[in-house]
Amino acid sequence: MKLAVRYYSKGGNTKKIAEAIAKAVGTEAKTVTEPLDEDVDILFLGSAPYAFDVDDEVKNFISSINVSVGKVINFSTAAVIRSTRKYVEKLFAEKNIPVAEEEFSCRGAFTVLHKGRPNEDDLKSAAEFAKKIIS
Ligand SMILES: Cc1cc2nc3c(=O)[nH]c(=O)nc-3n(C[C@H](O)[C@H](O)[C@H](O)COP(=O)(O)O)c2cc1C
Repeated sequence: MKLAVRYYSKGGNTKKIAEAIAKAVGTEAKTVTEPLDEDVDILFLGSAPYAFDVDDEVKNFISSINVSVGKVINFSTAAVIRSTRKYVEKLFAEKNIPVAEEEFSCRGAFTVLHKGRPNEDDLKSAAEFAKKIIS
């Protein structure tokens, strides 16, 4: 099974989750500035909301996909909303790439909110989630 992990993280919260997921599935977490260079069965894509949307770098990454992607597993950290799935889903729909119902999301520290998140428990949960996805 071919897997890839890509993420965008301004402050490092989503990067932590990306690295936990990548380690769990035996690959490397790369930023969305690195385009997919081969077909993949599963793309784990991590992002966070900034003012009710994902960053343009995430959008550009999705638009530029020119390989076959079996399915996308969204993961995200956020201070308020539940996840970024709805923001990326519509972009993948335009490319006929399915985004799985299953996703991983947890709180990410933002100003006075959610200090220390993601924490060790979040990283453990992310790793367990990713292992289940590929099992
Ligand atoms: C400029 C800015 C805008 C944000 N807007 C939102 C938002 O609209 N909804 C939300 O739930 N969290 C929002 N957050 C919180 C971040 O999504 C959260 O802290 C996330 O974990 C950041 O991930 P990162 O460290 O990987 O960049 C915002 C954070 C910043 C810095």
